[in-house]
Amino acid sequence: MGTSPDLYAVIGNPIAHSRSPQIHRMFAEQTGQDLRYERLLAALDGFDAVLDDFFAGGGMGLNVTVPFKLQAFERARAHLSERARAAGAVNTLWMENGELHGCNTDGVGLLRDLQRLGLQLADANVLLVGAGGAARGALGPLLATGCRRLRIVNRTESRAHELAAAFATEGGARLEAGGYAQAALDAGWDLVINATAASLQDAAPDLPADLHAPGGLAYDMVYGAQPTPFMRQALQAGARAEDGLGMLVEQAAESFRIWRQVLPDTAAVLGAMRAALQNPGGAAAPDAGKR
Ligand code: ATR
Repeated sequence: MGTSPDLYAVIGNPIAHSRSPQIHRMFAEQTGQDLRYERLLAALDGFDAVLDDFFAGGGMGLNVTVPFKLQAFERARAHLSERARAAGAVNTLWMENGELHGCNTDGVGLLRDLQRLGLQLADANVLLVGAGGAARGALGPLLATGCRRLRIVNRTESRAHELAAAFATEGGARLEAGGYAQAALDAGWDLVINATAASLQDAAPDLPADLHAPGGLAYDMVYGAQPTPFMRQALQAGARAEDGLGMLVEQAAESFRIWRQVLPDTAAVLGAMRAALQNPGGAAAPDAGKR
């Protein structure tokens, strides 16, 4: 038996920007766990080989980021959690009795961050903007909260309808779908979530004005040193606005819990990440990003 620390990593392409190593090292320090956490770059057609090498070399667990979450889902098909099934994607892998297991912690990460922000989701009216992988991962957990109404709107309207159809039987919420124009119908949203990739292009989804309920929250899954264009629009409209740094830390904490059976205290780690983000001179400054 070796004495080297247990090995974990995040795999993606690109991967240099990933803040997961920094977050997991802080979790390990805080909980007194002896582990290493690294970045793994895989070629776009090289995910399977890098994954196999990692686990053959004694690796214990992987986080998976863009663009490999669907391939990770396929690899763990024999042992998927309910969360992974609902999301149709896997961001957390581990080996158990020689078999690969997969979960998706993005949705629970989002919900925990919304809870931290004091949002009451039961009976809330929720507008989910976007219909790609990020929106899909959030949809099941959001429906399970008992929200009153959940409307998906997307730039390409047909994708919003397809996503809603895939979840039509879940939860008690009224699930609706449409294009951006439909965001304005019966507006007064308690929560508007930006699950599009627009912020990564420094753009805001082209939504109608007057979306927010008084005291409503606009939440961008992307984070950065400055408020995103989506957040700035919401602030101008009088809403609260938050970015996705808390979701990043919370999804990491849930992966850590799956691997190590201990849930870290996220508040201190989020504080450190926020400070690093706002101090670009510091060595630990995260770039804008999603993961
Ligand atoms: P992800 O896994 O990040 O969700 P994806 O599956 O490629 O990535 O989905 C990207 C989402 O961002 C989609 O909802 C996309 O809208 P379309 O379906 O119309 O393409 C949305 N998106 C990307 N760039 C956008 C922009 N500039 N404005 C609005 N929506 C954008």
